[in-house]
Amino acid sequence: MKISNVRIIDANKDFKGSIVIEEGIVKEVLENQVLEGEGVLDGKGMCLMPSFVDMHAHMREPGFEYKENLETGLSAALRGGFTQICAMANTNPVMDSFEKIKKNLEKARKLELADMIQVSAVTRDFEDESGKTVDFERIRELTPIFSNDGKNMANMKAMEEALTKSAQLDFVLSCHCEPETEMTDKYIEAAGRWGGNIHICHISKKETLEAIIKGKNKGLSLTCEVTPHHIFGWENPYPVAPPLAAKEDVDALIMGIKDGYIDVCATDHAPHTAEDKKNGMPGISNIEYAFSVYHTVFEGNGISINRLSEMMSEKPAKILGLNTGTIDPGKEANLVLADLDREYVIDTNEFLSKGKNTPFEGCKVKGKIEMTIKRGVVKYDNGQIIR
Ligand code: DOR
Repeated sequence: MKISNVRIIDANKDFKGSIVIEEGIVKEVLENQVLEGEGVLDGKGMCLMPSFVDMHAHMREPGFEYKENLETGLSAALRGGFTQICAMANTNPVMDSFEKIKKNLEKARKLELADMIQVSAVTRDFEDESGKTVDFERIRELTPIFSNDGKNMANMKAMEEALTKSAQLDFVLSCHCEPETEMTDKYIEAAGRWGGNIHICHISKKETLEAIIKGKNKGLSLTCEVTPHHIFGWENPYPVAPPLAAKEDVDALIMGIKDGYIDVCATDHAPHTAEDKKNGMPGISNIEYAFSVYHTVFEGNGISINRLSEMMSEKPAKILGLNTGTIDPGKEANLVLADLDREYVIDTNEFLSKGKNTPFEGCKVKGKIEMTIKRGVVKYDNGQIIR
């Protein structure tokens, strides 16, 4: 496959040209060259970017298929330009054993939609009090990321074990922190003592960012993520964990993105039914328009599209140890064609996700994913999943 007539953008480049793909891998990146003939996809002047890697999503299968299942969730991911997502472990049963994780991974693989990394729980059944940890050694063969996301992990014994194993086995410990700043401080202090690679989930507050900056300045292996909603919304009571914060916090997060202290743009795609939302369940369905929200906010704040590509593709791929995230020879050809100037209104009727829960219905955003390509195969094209 060849793709021509595109503006090629990733964390480090921005020029017109074309690319050549062979066996799912980028073979050549040709600046200022136009290719013609058979097997050439005309990008019509649109932007060709690396597809996105989501370090934080909820696919709800097994157990909560009425909210989302692997088929709808991984289709929604493709529509949003993601070819790789990390599915959190707060399913029913909780993903806390080699067998359960293996089974879910196989189900996802067979669908041939977006790729899924199954996040493993840290403690069995998310139990915090007893703090009985999972079999890290065995499960590490299946996944590079562990998290009790959705639930706080305050048990210091479990934290010590998880951090020690994270250092030994080289995995990411993704941390849901409640109360956010207090638990972030605790994790950072613990990582200073026991080592390990910690990643702080969905940060929303100025004070949390300050704690992270201090931790980073100590030289810890520490990364963090934001979500679209925590930089697009504020002083809004729509239930989400952590809650949407104050404008002052949003401004601090924007500075953290500009300064390079925030590493990753994730989604925390958390589909729920209308009934569950009525009962106050926290979460936003957002994977299909996450890029558009990010692009709108980044552009509005004078932050480059290269920085956005770094945060949505290059950095998460690097943290997870994946051979993707930039457009360079030898990398997997995981790509999106995006129309950066196209404005549209968020409309839940168009969602492939079962979750229609969002406070941003009707909001105007800019930048639309037109096509998603996974390892050289077109998987999504202008509203349609290609199978
Ligand atoms: O808003 C949220 N929803 N935050 C979380 O941490 C969990 C998630 C969910 O699973 O619904």
